[in-house]
Amino acid sequence: MSKQDTPNQPDTAETAINPMDFSKSIQMLYPTPIIRHHFDDLEGVNAEIRDLLLAKEKEHPEWRTGAAQKSNVAGWRSRDDLLKWEDPNINKVVDRLVNAIAFLNANRPMKKGTKQNNMDVFGWANINRTGQYNTAHIHPGYHWGAVYYVTTGKPDETLAKNGMLEFHDPRPAAAAMAVPGYEFGNKFDVRPKAGTLVVFPAWLTHAVHPFFGEEERISIAFNVRVRP
Ligand SMILES: [Fe+2]
Repeated sequence: MSKQDTPNQPDTAETAINPMDFSKSIQMLYPTPIIRHHFDDLEGVNAEIRDLLLAKEKEHPEWRTGAAQKSNVAGWRSRDDLLKWEDPNINKVVDRLVNAIAFLNANRPMKKGTKQNNMDVFGWANINRTGQYNTAHIHPGYHWGAVYYVTTGKPDETLAKNGMLEFHDPRPAAAAMAVPGYEFGNKFDVRPKAGTLVVFPAWLTHAVHPFFGEEERISIAFNVRVRP
């Protein structure tokens, strides 16, 4: 077949390696900061929070439907008033979160204006048992979202994405022409681990894969509004 028969066929000649250096000219446009930090000094705190939340669930078994049902499918979800419980163990986790947000404020790519660490924080707890999950969602009305894992339960490890947190590329067109070797359009999975805090922009779409296993997958989630 001659080249004229296939006008849409591109030339595919090998390109010689370009000796020019573009390393000082490249720019990362639209970066999305995510903090994923493991605290290994909170084991005792996690055990106390787990007991507290399981007791609270017994007190309010109805907090899985109606107003309590948001992205959680069948899982239990507390009210958004976790910080008003004034529980010393929960407050220790809040303190770590506040530090993470302060770090994000101090390390902004665009350092114009004042560095302001005043913030409003709202928290709630999630208990997922086998088969339960969270549909894809964002946290409207807030600047940062976060999740802290209290316990992962005992997930069936033969299921690759069991109970994993999944972030979606916020650039909807990026998946249409994924460039080989780049992460355009990919999903990013985080395997929960007790003691790990994940902080992300509240507009970043995320979901939780169904948890299949024994015991409970318990997390506490946060919404943060930074005050200008
Ligand atoms: Fe969320």
